[in-house]
Amino acid sequence: MNNLLQGKRGIIFGALDENSIAWKVALKAHEQGARFTLTNAPVALRMGEINKLAQHCNTTVIGADATSVEDLEKLVQQSVEQLGGKLDFVLHSVGMSPNVRKGKTYTDINYEWFQKTIDISALSLHKTLQVCTKHDALNEWGSVVALTYIAAQRAFPGYGDMADAKAMLESIVRSFGYYYGNLKKVRVNAVSQSPTMTTAGSGIKGFDSFFGFADKMSPLGNAPAENCADYCITLFSDLTRYVTMQTLYHDGGFSNIGVSEAVMNEFGKE
Ligand SMILES: NC(=O)c1ccc[n+]([C@@H]2O[C@H](COP(=O)([O-])OP(=O)(O)OC[C@H]3O[C@@H](n4cnc5c(N)ncnc54)[C@H](O)[C@@H]3O)[C@@H](O)[C@H]2O)c1
Repeated sequence: MNNLLQGKRGIIFGALDENSIAWKVALKAHEQGARFTLTNAPVALRMGEINKLAQHCNTTVIGADATSVEDLEKLVQQSVEQLGGKLDFVLHSVGMSPNVRKGKTYTDINYEWFQKTIDISALSLHKTLQVCTKHDALNEWGSVVALTYIAAQRAFPGYGDMADAKAMLESIVRSFGYYYGNLKKVRVNAVSQSPTMTTAGSGIKGFDSFFGFADKMSPLGNAPAENCADYCITLFSDLTRYVTMQTLYHDGGFSNIGVSEAVMNEFGKE
C-alpha cells in the first residue's frame, strides 16, 4: 500500500532518538506521503538527534513542552502556517515519570512528581486536543493517536505512577473522542503497545524481565516498534474512519492471554 497519507498534514510528538516509537512513525508517515512538523520538549531538542530526522523528512522541529498550553498554541499555529493548511493527524507519543526515573516505588511516591507524571503523560493529551479544538486546527475526519500501555488495566510492578497516568490518558481518549467526534468527526484513539526497547521503556525497573515475560506470553511475540508505526499509519489513514474512542491493543495477543505454555513450562517439575 502506498501513499496512504498523501496530502495529509500532521504533528508528531515524541521522537527522541531512532529507537523512539515516534521516530519510526515519522519515517513511515514520510514514506506514505504525509507532511508534518516534529516536536519535542526543549530539553530533548538539545540532544540534537531529532534534527537528523527532520532533515530526512524534509521538515522542521518546533520545540514545545507538552505541559504548557502556551507552547502548544504556538506549536499548533506554526504547524498550520508552515504546512499550509489545517491538520489531519496528531501523534501523541509522550510519557515520563520522575518517580519511575528516580526509582521511587509506588508505595513511597513523591506527590509533586506524581503531578508531573500526570501532567506530562496524560493531561498533555487533553491540552493538545483542547488547543486544537479552540483553534479549529484539525480537518474533519482527522485522527489523533496516543501511545499507551496495558498497565492502565492491570497491575505491573515497576510501572509505578505511569499506570495511573495511562489510565487517565485512555479516559481522555474516550471523553475527548466523544466531543471531537460530535464537533468535527475527528477520531481519537490510544494504541496499547508491547514493551519496547526505548529510552522511556528501559527506564522501568526490571524492564528486561518484563520484556522477556511479555514476549513468552504473547502468541505472536512482542510487537516491534516498526509494526506499531505501521498500525499508527493505518489509524491516520482514511481506511479507519469509523474507529474512535478506543484503546487498541498492538501487543501480539498479550492482552487476551491467561497463560502461555512457554511460561507454564518454566514452572513445571523436571
Ligand atoms: N517503550 C515501551 O515499552 C512502551 C510501551 C507502551 C507504550 N509506550 C508509550 O509510547 C510513548 C513513546 O515512548 P517511547 O517508548 O517511544 O520512548 P521515548 O523515550 O523515545 O519517547 C518519550 C518521549 O516523550 C517526550 N517527552 C517527555 N516529557 C515531555 C514534555 N514535557 N513535553 C514534550 N515531550 C516530552 C520525550 O522527550 C520523548 O521523546 C510513551 O507514551 C510511552 O509511554 C512505550
